[in-house]
Amino acid sequence: MKQRSLHIKTFGCQMNERDSEIIEQLLFPLGFIPVADMQTADLVILNTCSVRAKAEQKVYSLLGQIRQYKSRNPGMLVAVAGCVAQQEKERIMQRMPHVNMVIGTRQIYKIPAMITRIDAGQTNLKPEVDLDDTMQVQPFLQVGRNGSQSSPSPAPGEYKKFVTIMQGCNNFCSYCVVPLTRGREVSRPVADILDEVRLLVEQGVKEITLLGQNVNSYGLTNPVADDPVNFAALLRLVSATPGLNRLRFTTSNPKDLSDDLMRCFAELENLCPQFHLPVQSGSNRILSLMNRKYTVEEYLQKVEALRRYRPDIALGTDMIIGFPGETEEDFAATMRLLETVRFHGSFSFKYSDRPGTRAASLGNPVNEEVKSERLSRFQDRQDEISLARNREYLDHILEVIVEGKGKKGLWQGRSSTNHIVHFSPVRSQEPHRGDAVMVRIDKAGQHSLAGTHIQEGDES
Ligand code: SAH
Ligand code: SF4
Ligand code: F3S
Repeated sequence: MKQRSLHIKTFGCQMNERDSEIIEQLLFPLGFIPVADMQTADLVILNTCSVRAKAEQKVYSLLGQIRQYKSRNPGMLVAVAGCVAQQEKERIMQRMPHVNMVIGTRQIYKIPAMITRIDAGQTNLKPEVDLDDTMQVQPFLQVGRNGSQSSPSPAPGEYKKFVTIMQGCNNFCSYCVVPLTRGREVSRPVADILDEVRLLVEQGVKEITLLGQNVNSYGLTNPVADDPVNFAALLRLVSATPGLNRLRFTTSNPKDLSDDLMRCFAELENLCPQFHLPVQSGSNRILSLMNRKYTVEEYLQKVEALRRYRPDIALGTDMIIGFPGETEEDFAATMRLLETVRFHGSFSFKYSDRPGTRAASLGNPVNEEVKSERLSRFQDRQDEISLARNREYLDHILEVIVEGKGKKGLWQGRSSTNHIVHFSPVRSQEPHRGDAVMVRIDKAGQHSLAGTHIQEGDES
């Protein structure tokens, strides 16, 4: 079979990262080999994100650039997948006629068939953007790196993998495009998830992150008839996989965070002491306009419970600054929440109007300059807090799983709290990717920690 080169560029969240991996695996049997260079590739796939306007603009400007690459490399095929594809559909090809394929979020399994049709001489393929909620089996098909349909094969040295447990979202937070681009919530059968985790661990994977837009409501919307497993129960089952060192999950909506689930942090040894719990605003008035269905007080109670169950838990969050109608008073409440929780880290964004969402028709926008100024105030304070939080780890000995060589001869890995840790190896011991090593922390920055690899017996 003729070999061809494939370049996939992924934007947005981990769902897209996982989808790109599946696309790569699906195309392998057709002779497509991943390459780093986009300009000379035979097939370029943009797996896109439309969560904020900027993310979408990036896609269109990159498509403009790709038109030039294609004029020098006329055989190039161009495909747009992901959330922009789902929302824009045929508009993409109307604006960018050099795009050959548009593939919606639940249609990635059609890519090989689409390529085959193009190879057979068909042009003008219609966008595949059906968001049919009854499609439960196909989206979760496992495809191995070698193209077999049973094994999710990690690459050598790949010690951490995502495992999708659900697709879509039913929450309709008023600002968010995800329910429109990913469709209704569908939970994947427990047995499939457990099989995939077991297979990965057998192949040397040490860390699994369970993935979904709203994992806390796993199993609530379409409990498999005689299998009503909720997310806490699923976590317990996955956690019991022999040989699984680290378990994480993302992302969570605080409204569905049960006490049972929080208790898992006390009970499950391999569940990492790290939790990303997006709050979005510190003002109850704004939270209600956002349709988040919890109050700041309820959020704080959950933070308190989490810290009771797992005192060393590192908490992160997402924050939207400048939601329509956000007053200085609302923003002050957000800053107060930051001071109260003192998140280890956060992702904060200026509110961006998204077509088709309820917030886009609220009116009452916050002026761009005000948004930018509030965002910097928030981020500056978060940076100070992150630094102070990271200093709490000084002199601690953390288990770090090695990810590879970093800069200046240092090695780099992740702690169970998901901090990036740089470290220098001692006594000419070369660590390997995926090794668990103990590191004594002697430096703390805003976004990472640094220390020295210690050997057993060195602790005292
Ligand atoms: N499922 C996750 C969030 C997914 S989107 C949750 O429920 O929290 C990732 C983040 O993008 C969100 O947490 C939010 O902070 C941000 N975001 C989503 N829509 C946005 C918008 N219209 N403008 C700015 N930020 C947005
Ligand atoms: Fe978007 Fe809300 Fe669903 Fe998260 S829970 S994906 S913010 S609608
Ligand atoms: Fe973006 Fe879609 Fe993920 S909008 S954040 S790629 S679900």
